[in-house]
Amino acid sequence: MTLSEQSIEDAKSHALAAIAAADSLEALKEVRLQHAGDKSPIARANQQLGSLSPEERATFGKIIGQAKGQVAAALEAQTKVLEAQRDARVLIEERVDVSIAARRTPKGGLHPLTILTNEICDLFLGMGYRVAEGPELEAEWLNFDALNIPADHPARTMQDTFFIEPLDSHLVLRTHTSPVQVRTMLEEEPPIYVICPGRTYRADELDATHTPVFSQVEGLVIDKGITMADLKGTLDHFARSIFGPDVKTRLRSSFFPFTEPSAEVDFYFNGRWIEWGGCGMVNPKVLVACGIDPDVYSGFAFGMGLERTLMVRHGITDMHDIVEGDLRFTQSFGTGVK
Ligand code: PHE
Repeated sequence: MTLSEQSIEDAKSHALAAIAAADSLEALKEVRLQHAGDKSPIARANQQLGSLSPEERATFGKIIGQAKGQVAAALEAQTKVLEAQRDARVLIEERVDVSIAARRTPKGGLHPLTILTNEICDLFLGMGYRVAEGPELEAEWLNFDALNIPADHPARTMQDTFFIEPLDSHLVLRTHTSPVQVRTMLEEEPPIYVICPGRTYRADELDATHTPVFSQVEGLVIDKGITMADLKGTLDHFARSIFGPDVKTRLRSSFFPFTEPSAEVDFYFNGRWIEWGGCGMVNPKVLVACGIDPDVYSGFAFGMGLERTLMVRHGITDMHDIVEGDLRFTQSFGTGVK
Protein backbone atom coordinates (compact mmCIF):
# COMPACT_ATOMS: atom_id res chain seq x y z
CA MET A 1 0.00 0.00 0.00
CA THR A 2 1.36 3.38 -0.97
CA LEU A 3 0.85 5.88 1.76
CA SER A 4 -1.73 8.52 0.91
CA GLU A 5 -4.26 10.51 2.82
CA GLN A 6 -6.96 8.71 0.91
CA SER A 7 -5.68 5.23 1.74
CA ILE A 8 -5.60 6.10 5.44
CA GLU A 9 -9.04 7.64 5.22
CA ASP A 10 -10.28 4.44 3.48
CA ALA A 11 -8.67 2.20 6.10
CA LYS A 12 -10.28 4.29 8.84
CA SER A 13 -13.74 4.30 7.31
CA HIS A 14 -13.57 0.53 6.68
CA ALA A 15 -12.62 0.11 10.30
CA LEU A 16 -15.42 2.37 11.56
CA ALA A 17 -17.98 0.63 9.32
CA ALA A 18 -16.85 -2.81 10.52
CA ILE A 19 -17.02 -1.66 14.14
CA ALA A 20 -20.52 -0.31 13.68
CA ALA A 21 -21.57 -3.58 12.00
CA ALA A 22 -20.21 -5.81 14.77
CA ASP A 23 -23.27 -7.16 16.53
CA SER A 24 -21.60 -9.19 19.24
CA LEU A 25 -18.55 -8.98 21.45
CA GLU A 26 -17.08 -11.96 19.60
CA ALA A 27 -17.56 -10.25 16.22
CA LEU A 28 -16.04 -7.05 17.65
CA LYS A 29 -12.99 -8.99 18.80
CA GLU A 30 -12.46 -10.16 15.24
CA VAL A 31 -12.91 -6.58 13.94
CA ARG A 32 -10.37 -5.31 16.45
CA LEU A 33 -7.79 -7.83 15.17
CA GLN A 34 -8.41 -6.91 11.55
CA HIS A 35 -8.63 -3.13 11.86
CA ALA A 36 -6.62 -2.23 14.95
CA GLY A 37 -4.22 -5.13 15.30
CA ASP A 38 -0.52 -5.24 14.38
CA LYS A 39 -1.34 -6.34 10.83
CA SER A 40 -4.19 -3.91 10.22
CA PRO A 41 -3.86 -1.38 7.30
CA ILE A 42 -3.47 1.50 9.74
CA ALA A 43 -0.74 -0.29 11.70
CA ARG A 44 1.04 -1.09 8.48
CA ALA A 45 0.80 2.54 7.36
CA ASN A 46 2.31 3.49 10.71
CA GLN A 47 5.21 1.10 10.06
CA GLN A 48 5.92 2.88 6.77
CA LEU A 49 6.48 6.23 8.52
CA GLY A 50 10.17 5.41 9.07
CA SER A 51 10.90 5.50 5.36
CA LEU A 52 9.43 9.00 4.87
CA SER A 53 11.08 12.38 4.87
CA PRO A 54 10.79 14.26 8.16
CA GLU A 55 8.05 16.61 6.85
CA GLU A 56 6.01 13.81 5.37
CA ARG A 57 6.53 11.82 8.53
CA ALA A 58 5.08 14.68 10.56
CA THR A 59 2.06 15.07 8.29
CA PHE A 60 1.27 11.36 7.98
CA GLY A 61 2.10 10.73 11.58
CA LYS A 62 -0.61 13.14 12.55
CA ILE A 63 -3.17 11.72 10.09
CA ILE A 64 -2.43 8.14 11.12
CA GLY A 65 -2.50 9.07 14.80
CA GLN A 66 -5.91 10.68 14.42
CA ALA A 67 -7.21 7.68 12.47
CA LYS A 68 -5.93 5.29 15.15
CA GLY A 69 -7.51 7.46 17.84
CA GLN A 70 -10.89 7.48 16.13
CA VAL A 71 -10.83 3.72 15.56
CA ALA A 72 -9.84 3.10 19.19
CA ALA A 73 -12.60 5.40 20.42
CA ALA A 74 -15.14 3.70 18.16
CA LEU A 75 -14.01 0.29 19.42
CA GLU A 76 -14.38 1.38 23.00
CA ALA A 77 -17.81 2.90 22.42
CA GLN A 78 -19.04 -0.19 20.58
CA THR A 79 -17.64 -2.47 23.30
CA LYS A 80 -19.71 -0.59 25.87
CA VAL A 81 -22.85 -0.84 23.74
CA LEU A 82 -22.38 -4.57 23.16
CA GLU A 83 -21.51 -5.26 26.80
CA ALA A 84 -24.65 -3.45 27.90
CA GLN A 85 -26.69 -5.51 25.42
CA ARG A 86 -25.10 -8.73 26.67
CA ASP A 87 -25.75 -7.85 30.31
CA ALA A 88 -29.36 -7.04 29.59
CA ARG A 89 -29.79 -10.33 27.72
CA VAL A 90 -28.09 -12.40 30.42
CA LEU A 91 -30.36 -10.87 33.05
CA ILE A 92 -33.35 -12.21 31.16
CA GLU A 93 -31.93 -15.50 29.89
CA GLU A 94 -30.31 -16.54 33.16
CA ARG A 95 -33.06 -15.28 35.36
CA VAL A 96 -33.78 -17.37 38.44
CA ASP A 97 -37.32 -17.45 39.66
CA VAL A 98 -36.75 -17.50 43.38
CA SER A 99 -40.45 -17.88 44.03
CA ILE A 100 -40.67 -21.22 42.20
CA ALA A 101 -41.30 -24.24 44.45
CA ALA A 102 -38.06 -26.15 45.02
CA ARG A 103 -37.87 -29.84 44.22
CA ARG A 104 -37.13 -31.24 47.65
CA THR A 105 -35.17 -34.42 48.19
CA PRO A 106 -36.92 -36.13 51.08
CA LYS A 107 -34.71 -36.84 54.09
CA GLY A 108 -33.97 -40.48 54.74
CA GLY A 109 -35.74 -42.16 57.62
CA LEU A 110 -35.41 -45.33 59.62
CA HIS A 111 -37.69 -48.30 59.10
CA PRO A 112 -40.14 -48.80 62.00
CA LEU A 113 -38.40 -52.09 62.83
CA THR A 114 -35.09 -50.26 63.15
CA ILE A 115 -36.74 -47.63 65.33
CA LEU A 116 -38.11 -50.39 67.59
CA THR A 117 -34.74 -52.17 67.67
CA ASN A 118 -33.01 -48.95 68.71
CA GLU A 119 -35.63 -48.38 71.38
CA ILE A 120 -35.07 -51.86 72.83
CA CYS A 121 -31.29 -51.56 72.70
CA ASP A 122 -31.48 -48.20 74.47
CA LEU A 123 -33.66 -49.72 77.19
CA PHE A 124 -31.25 -52.57 77.87
CA LEU A 125 -28.14 -50.41 77.54
CA GLY A 126 -29.69 -48.33 80.31
CA MET A 127 -29.77 -51.47 82.49
CA GLY A 128 -26.09 -52.18 81.88
CA TYR A 129 -26.45 -54.67 79.03
CA ARG A 130 -24.24 -54.67 75.94
CA VAL A 131 -25.53 -55.07 72.38
CA ALA A 132 -24.12 -58.21 70.74
CA GLU A 133 -24.46 -59.20 67.11
CA GLY A 134 -23.70 -62.29 65.09
CA PRO A 135 -23.73 -63.37 61.45
CA GLU A 136 -26.96 -64.23 59.63
CA LEU A 137 -25.14 -67.02 57.79
CA GLU A 138 -24.43 -69.19 60.79
CA ALA A 139 -22.62 -72.43 61.57
CA GLU A 140 -25.15 -75.24 62.00
CA TRP A 141 -23.34 -76.19 65.21
CA LEU A 142 -23.95 -72.76 66.77
CA ASN A 143 -27.53 -72.53 65.52
CA PHE A 144 -28.45 -76.03 66.78
CA ASP A 145 -25.90 -78.38 68.40
CA ALA A 146 -24.46 -75.98 70.94
CA LEU A 147 -28.03 -75.09 71.91
CA ASN A 148 -28.70 -78.73 72.76
CA ILE A 149 -30.61 -79.34 69.52
CA PRO A 150 -28.96 -82.55 68.20
CA ALA A 151 -28.96 -83.63 64.54
CA ASP A 152 -32.06 -85.80 64.83
CA HIS A 153 -34.00 -83.24 66.85
CA PRO A 154 -37.34 -82.28 65.29
CA ALA A 155 -36.56 -78.59 65.89
CA ARG A 156 -34.21 -78.68 62.92
CA THR A 157 -37.08 -79.35 60.60
CA MET A 158 -39.70 -77.69 62.83
CA GLN A 159 -37.85 -74.43 62.40
CA ASP A 160 -38.03 -74.77 58.61
CA THR A 161 -34.36 -74.18 58.22
CA PHE A 162 -32.74 -72.79 55.07
CA PHE A 163 -29.69 -75.04 54.67
CA ILE A 164 -26.83 -73.71 52.55
CA GLU A 165 -25.34 -75.77 49.71
CA PRO A 166 -23.03 -77.60 49.68
CA LEU A 167 -24.64 -79.26 52.68
CA ASP A 168 -21.27 -80.34 54.05
CA SER A 169 -20.47 -76.64 54.56
CA HIS A 170 -22.77 -77.05 57.58
CA LEU A 171 -23.99 -73.49 57.22
CA VAL A 172 -27.57 -72.33 57.69
CA LEU A 173 -29.40 -69.03 57.58
CA ARG A 174 -29.84 -68.65 61.32
CA THR A 175 -33.35 -69.63 62.40
CA HIS A 176 -33.17 -67.58 65.58
CA THR A 177 -30.85 -65.16 67.37
CA SER A 178 -29.95 -67.77 70.02
CA PRO A 179 -26.60 -68.65 68.36
CA VAL A 180 -25.47 -65.16 69.40
CA GLN A 181 -25.93 -66.36 73.02
CA VAL A 182 -23.52 -69.18 72.32
CA ARG A 183 -21.02 -66.95 70.56
CA THR A 184 -21.09 -64.53 73.48
CA MET A 185 -20.64 -67.25 76.09
CA LEU A 186 -17.75 -68.77 74.14
CA GLU A 187 -16.00 -65.42 73.86
CA GLU A 188 -16.68 -63.84 77.22
CA GLU A 189 -16.37 -64.66 80.86
CA PRO A 190 -19.43 -64.12 83.04
CA PRO A 191 -20.99 -61.88 84.23
CA ILE A 192 -22.68 -61.53 80.83
CA TYR A 193 -25.54 -59.15 80.12
CA VAL A 194 -26.27 -58.88 76.40
CA ILE A 195 -29.14 -57.97 74.13
CA CYS A 196 -28.90 -59.35 70.58
CA PRO A 197 -31.19 -57.96 67.89
CA GLY A 198 -31.00 -59.37 64.40
CA ARG A 199 -32.49 -60.78 61.25
CA THR A 200 -33.53 -64.42 61.20
CA TYR A 201 -34.81 -66.81 58.53
CA ARG A 202 -37.34 -69.62 58.26
CA ALA A 203 -38.84 -71.15 55.13
CA ASP A 204 -42.31 -69.63 55.57
CA GLU A 205 -44.49 -68.10 52.88
CA LEU A 206 -45.03 -64.36 53.18
CA ASP A 207 -48.60 -63.80 54.31
CA ALA A 208 -50.49 -61.50 56.69
CA THR A 209 -48.75 -62.92 59.77
CA HIS A 210 -45.58 -64.64 58.48
CA THR A 211 -42.44 -63.62 56.66
CA PRO A 212 -39.47 -65.84 55.78
CA VAL A 213 -37.09 -63.03 56.77
CA PHE A 214 -37.97 -61.71 60.19
CA SER A 215 -36.29 -60.18 63.21
CA GLN A 216 -35.78 -61.32 66.75
CA VAL A 217 -34.29 -59.84 69.83
CA GLU A 218 -32.55 -62.12 72.26
CA GLY A 219 -31.57 -61.36 75.82
CA LEU A 220 -28.98 -63.30 77.80
CA VAL A 221 -27.83 -62.93 81.36
CA ILE A 222 -25.22 -65.15 83.05
CA ASP A 223 -24.15 -64.31 86.56
CA LYS A 224 -23.98 -65.78 90.02
CA GLY A 225 -27.34 -66.42 91.65
CA ILE A 226 -29.57 -65.54 88.70
CA THR A 227 -33.09 -66.95 89.13
CA MET A 228 -36.36 -67.06 87.28
CA ALA A 229 -37.51 -64.10 89.38
CA ASP A 230 -34.84 -62.01 87.67
CA LEU A 231 -36.14 -63.20 84.32
CA LYS A 232 -39.73 -62.34 85.19
CA GLY A 233 -38.75 -58.90 86.53
CA THR A 234 -36.72 -58.14 83.41
CA LEU A 235 -39.57 -59.21 81.11
CA ASP A 236 -42.06 -57.10 83.10
CA HIS A 237 -39.85 -54.05 82.76
CA PHE A 238 -39.26 -54.76 79.07
CA ALA A 239 -42.99 -55.19 78.36
CA ARG A 240 -43.97 -52.07 80.30
CA SER A 241 -41.50 -49.90 78.48
CA ILE A 242 -42.59 -51.19 75.08
CA PHE A 243 -46.37 -51.49 75.53
CA GLY A 244 -47.15 -49.08 78.37
CA PRO A 245 -46.93 -48.93 82.16
CA ASP A 246 -50.05 -51.01 82.83
CA VAL A 247 -49.10 -54.05 80.78
CA LYS A 248 -48.81 -57.39 82.59
CA THR A 249 -46.80 -60.46 81.60
CA ARG A 250 -47.28 -64.15 82.38
CA LEU A 251 -45.11 -67.21 81.89
CA ARG A 252 -46.62 -70.43 80.53
CA SER A 253 -44.66 -73.61 80.92
CA SER A 254 -43.08 -74.70 77.63
CA PHE A 255 -40.07 -76.45 76.17
CA PHE A 256 -36.89 -75.30 74.45
CA PRO A 257 -33.84 -77.56 74.30
CA PHE A 258 -31.56 -74.73 75.39
CA THR A 259 -33.52 -73.60 78.46
CA GLU A 260 -34.62 -75.56 81.49
CA PRO A 261 -37.17 -74.74 82.77
CA SER A 262 -38.64 -73.08 79.71
CA ALA A 263 -41.65 -70.84 79.29
CA GLU A 264 -43.65 -68.88 76.78
CA VAL A 265 -44.05 -65.27 77.75
CA ASP A 266 -47.40 -63.59 77.09
CA PHE A 267 -48.49 -60.05 77.78
CA TYR A 268 -51.91 -58.65 78.51
CA PHE A 269 -52.68 -55.83 76.09
CA ASN A 270 -55.98 -54.24 75.07
CA GLY A 271 -58.02 -56.85 76.94
CA ARG A 272 -56.34 -60.06 75.79
CA TRP A 273 -53.27 -62.23 76.36
CA ILE A 274 -50.86 -62.13 73.46
CA GLU A 275 -47.99 -64.58 72.94
CA TRP A 276 -44.73 -62.64 72.82
CA GLY A 277 -41.78 -65.05 72.81
CA GLY A 278 -39.84 -67.81 74.49
CA CYS A 279 -37.69 -67.73 77.58
CA GLY A 280 -36.21 -69.80 80.37
CA MET A 281 -33.19 -70.53 82.51
CA VAL A 282 -30.16 -71.38 80.36
CA ASN A 283 -29.85 -75.18 80.25
CA PRO A 284 -26.74 -76.29 82.20
CA LYS A 285 -25.85 -78.44 79.16
CA VAL A 286 -25.55 -75.26 77.10
CA LEU A 287 -23.42 -73.61 79.79
CA VAL A 288 -21.09 -76.62 79.77
CA ALA A 289 -20.92 -76.60 75.93
CA CYS A 290 -19.82 -72.96 76.19
CA GLY A 291 -17.23 -73.57 78.91
CA ILE A 292 -19.17 -72.04 81.80
CA ASP A 293 -19.36 -73.87 85.12
CA PRO A 294 -23.06 -74.46 85.93
CA ASP A 295 -22.21 -74.98 89.61
CA VAL A 296 -21.01 -71.38 89.82
CA TYR A 297 -23.17 -69.57 87.32
CA SER A 298 -26.76 -69.58 86.22
CA GLY A 299 -28.59 -67.45 83.72
CA PHE A 300 -31.71 -66.71 81.78
CA ALA A 301 -32.47 -66.10 78.13
CA PHE A 302 -35.45 -64.80 76.24
CA GLY A 303 -36.23 -64.20 72.59
CA MET A 304 -39.11 -62.52 70.83
CA GLY A 305 -40.14 -61.52 67.33
CA LEU A 306 -39.82 -57.84 66.52
CA GLU A 307 -42.40 -57.82 63.71
CA ARG A 308 -44.99 -59.24 66.06
CA THR A 309 -44.08 -56.73 68.75
CA LEU A 310 -44.44 -53.88 66.26
CA MET A 311 -47.71 -55.24 64.87
CA VAL A 312 -49.33 -55.54 68.28
CA ARG A 313 -48.11 -52.21 69.55
CA HIS A 314 -49.27 -50.30 66.47
CA GLY A 315 -52.31 -52.34 65.48
CA ILE A 316 -50.73 -53.41 62.18
CA THR A 317 -52.81 -56.25 60.75
CA ASP A 318 -50.81 -57.14 57.65
CA MET A 319 -47.17 -58.26 57.65
CA HIS A 320 -46.87 -57.06 54.03
CA ASP A 321 -46.89 -53.48 55.32
CA ILE A 322 -43.74 -54.11 57.33
CA VAL A 323 -41.96 -55.96 54.55
CA GLU A 324 -42.84 -53.99 51.44
CA GLY A 325 -41.26 -50.66 52.37
CA ASP A 326 -44.15 -48.46 51.19
CA LEU A 327 -43.23 -44.94 52.30
CA ARG A 328 -46.85 -44.10 53.18
CA PHE A 329 -46.64 -46.80 55.85
CA THR A 330 -43.17 -46.10 57.19
CA GLN A 331 -43.60 -42.32 57.25
CA SER A 332 -46.49 -42.62 59.68
CA PHE A 333 -43.91 -43.74 62.28
CA GLY A 334 -41.82 -40.61 61.84
CA THR A 335 -38.26 -40.72 60.65
CA GLY A 336 -36.74 -42.00 63.88
CA VAL A 337 -33.81 -39.71 63.14
CA LYS A 338 -33.02 -37.57 66.14
N1 PHE B 1 -34.83 -69.00 70.09
C1 PHE B 1 -36.20 -69.30 70.43
C2 PHE B 1 -37.05 -69.30 69.17
O1 PHE B 1 -36.70 -68.67 68.23
C3 PHE B 1 -36.75 -68.33 71.44
C4 PHE B 1 -36.07 -68.42 72.76
C5 PHE B 1 -34.98 -67.62 73.03
C6 PHE B 1 -36.50 -69.28 73.72
C7 PHE B 1 -34.36 -67.67 74.26
C8 PHE B 1 -35.88 -69.36 74.95
C9 PHE B 1 -34.81 -68.55 75.21
O2 PHE B 1 -38.09 -69.91 69.13
